[in-house]
Amino acid sequence: MCGIIGYIGNNNALPMLIDGLKRLEYRGYDSSGIAILRDGEIHLQKKVGKVSELEKAAPLKDYTGSIGIGHTRWATHGEPSDVNAHPHMSNDGTIAMIHNGIIENYHTIKTKLEKLGYKFKSATDTEALVHLIQEMKKVSGDLETAVRLALRQVDGTYGIAVVSSQEPDKIIVARKGSPLIIGVGENEHYVASDAAAIIPYTRQVVYMEDGEIAVLTKNTFETKTIDNVEKIKQIHEVTFDIEEIEKGGYDHFMLKEIMEQPETLRNAMRGRVLLNEGNAKLSGLNDVTLLLENAQRIIITACGTSWHAGLVGEYMLEQYAKVSVEVEYASEFRYRNPIIKPTDVLFLISQSGETADTLAALREAKKKGASVLGICNVVGSTIARESQGGVYIHAGPEIGVASTKAFSSQLVVLSLVTLLIAHQRESVSHDVLMTMCKELLDLPSKVEKILKDTSQIEKIAEEFKTSNNFLYLGRGYNFPVALEGALKLKEISYIHAEGYPAAEMKHGPIALIDENMPVVVIATKDSTYEKIISNIQEVKARKGKVIAIANDGDDHIDTLADYVIKVPHTLDMLSPILNVIPLQLLSYFIAVKRGCNVDQPRNLAKSVTVE
Ligand code: M6R
Repeated sequence: MCGIIGYIGNNNALPMLIDGLKRLEYRGYDSSGIAILRDGEIHLQKKVGKVSELEKAAPLKDYTGSIGIGHTRWATHGEPSDVNAHPHMSNDGTIAMIHNGIIENYHTIKTKLEKLGYKFKSATDTEALVHLIQEMKKVSGDLETAVRLALRQVDGTYGIAVVSSQEPDKIIVARKGSPLIIGVGENEHYVASDAAAIIPYTRQVVYMEDGEIAVLTKNTFETKTIDNVEKIKQIHEVTFDIEEIEKGGYDHFMLKEIMEQPETLRNAMRGRVLLNEGNAKLSGLNDVTLLLENAQRIIITACGTSWHAGLVGEYMLEQYAKVSVEVEYASEFRYRNPIIKPTDVLFLISQSGETADTLAALREAKKKGASVLGICNVVGSTIARESQGGVYIHAGPEIGVASTKAFSSQLVVLSLVTLLIAHQRESVSHDVLMTMCKELLDLPSKVEKILKDTSQIEKIAEEFKTSNNFLYLGRGYNFPVALEGALKLKEISYIHAEGYPAAEMKHGPIALIDENMPVVVIATKDSTYEKIISNIQEVKARKGKVIAIANDGDDHIDTLADYVIKVPHTLDMLSPILNVIPLQLLSYFIAVKRGCNVDQPRNLAKSVTVE
C-alpha cells in the first residue's frame, strides 16, 4: 500500500523524508520519490525499486531544503516505473503532489484536461489530479483553494500532500478514504499516512477525517472541510510502538489482513459494478471483449489458494456465463502437453504474479496459441506484464504467507468476469444479473458483520487446538472453500487437514471419523443444503465432532452440529466469500494457540518463484 510522508520546518527535509519512507517500507511498495522545495524550485527524484535506490539518486548536497514530500508507491494504475512513481508534477512545473488512493473518474478528468492542452507523462490516475489543481489555480489564484476546487471534482479515495514553488511556505494535505495524520513538532509539522513514519520525531498527532483539508506551515496548521468550513482539531498523543503500528494494532499481519477484507472487497469492486446495466466494467479486458464473447472454453490455471479461487470461478462461469471451464494446477498444466485451441482463453490467477509454475503455464499456453489473461494483485508483476489483458484485484500488499484477503478479492473479480461474460452472451436474464450486482455490493457489510465478534471462533479454536487431524467438507460452490479451509489450517498450524466434496466422504475418508475427528462442514443454505445436512448426520452417527458454518436464522442446524458459526446469507455463487472468513479465523486462532509463527510458517515462502 502506498505511503505518504511530508515535512515543513527548519531542518533539512531530505534525511527525515528518507527515514520516514524506510519506516513505511513494511506496507509494501515498488517505487519511491521525493520533492523538495529550495530557492523557488521543486527538486524532484523518483526511483523504481527500494528506497535505498532513491537515497543514492538524491544526495543531500543537491537536495537541501526544509520543505518536502515523499512517497512509496504500490502500483494500481500503470506499472512500477520511475515515471509512474510519485510525486507527480503539474505541466507548468510549479506544483508537486503525492497521492494514496484511487481517482475513479481520472479518465474523464484526463480527457477534459487533454482538450485544454495538458500533457500526461505517466499512466497514473494521480497525474490527472495534479494537472486539475494547476487548472483550478488559474481560477482561484491560491493553492489551497485550487486543491479544494479540484477535490470537489474527484470521485474515489485520496490522501494527498501538495507543495508549490509559488507558495513555498506551506504543504496542503487532504483526506478522503485514505488515512492521513498531521504530526505536530516544535516549529515544524509533518504529514504521514501512518504514525510509523513520524514517531521518532513527534508523538503529537492530529488524525484527519474524510472530507478534511489542512494547510501546514512551520508554525501552524489550519484544518477545514473541503467546503471551506473551519474545523478545530484535537492533538492526540501516540502511545503505541512501531511494530504495533505496522500491524495496525493486530498481533499478526494475517489477522490484520483478515480484518481488512470489508475494505479490500470494496476496492476490488470500486467503479466496476454497473448495477443498472447488470454488468461489470473491467477496463483491463476492453481489448479482449470479442475474444471472451467467442471463447469456446475457458481454462483457469493457478497454484494453492489461487487455484481454489479458480475452482469457485469454474462454478460461477459455467452456471451464469454458460461457458465450459476447466481448472488445472499450473504445475500440471505445463507438463502434460495440453490440447489448446485458438478459441480457448486462459485465465491465470496469482496474488504475487510471480509464481514460477503459473508463469510457466502462461508461457506454455501462449506458445500453443491461447489467449492469456491475468488476475493478479501485484501490479506490474511478471504474469500481469506477460498477459494480454487482465484484472487487478486491488487487495493491497499481502504480507502474511497464508493468503486471505487476496482469496476473497480473487473471488470478487471472478464474479465480475462472470457478470461481464454473462451480460455479453445474454446467457441469463437481466434480473439475474442485477441481483448479482446488488448482492456483490452488499458483501462488504456482511463481512463486517462476521468480523465484528470473533470470540466464538476463538473458543472453538481453544477446544480443538490439540487435535491432530481435521476434515473439511463442502458441496458445490463450497467444495473449494473446504479445500481452502484445510489448506489454511495445514500451512499455519501444522495440523493435518483434508478438504473433500462432502459426498466423497463415504468413498473413503469416513473411515477416519471417530470421537477425535473434528469435521468442519460448510452448510449454508444453498441448493445442496439438504444433502449436506445428511452428511452432518453421517458424521454424527460415527461420533465425529461437527463444526458447522451455517446461515443466520438456521436454527435446525443448531440441533445437529456441536458448534455452529453463523454467517449472513447471500447468493450461492458469492457464499464462498463469506464462508471462508470463519475458516481463516479458525486456523489463525488455532495456530496462535499452538504457538506457531503465523505470518511466516515453516518451509513456506510468500511467493514461490522456483519450480
Ligand atoms: O502468488 P500466488 O497466488 O500465485 O501464490 C500461489 C500459492 O503459492 C499460494 O496461494 C499459497 O498456496 C499460499 N501460501 C496459500 O495461503
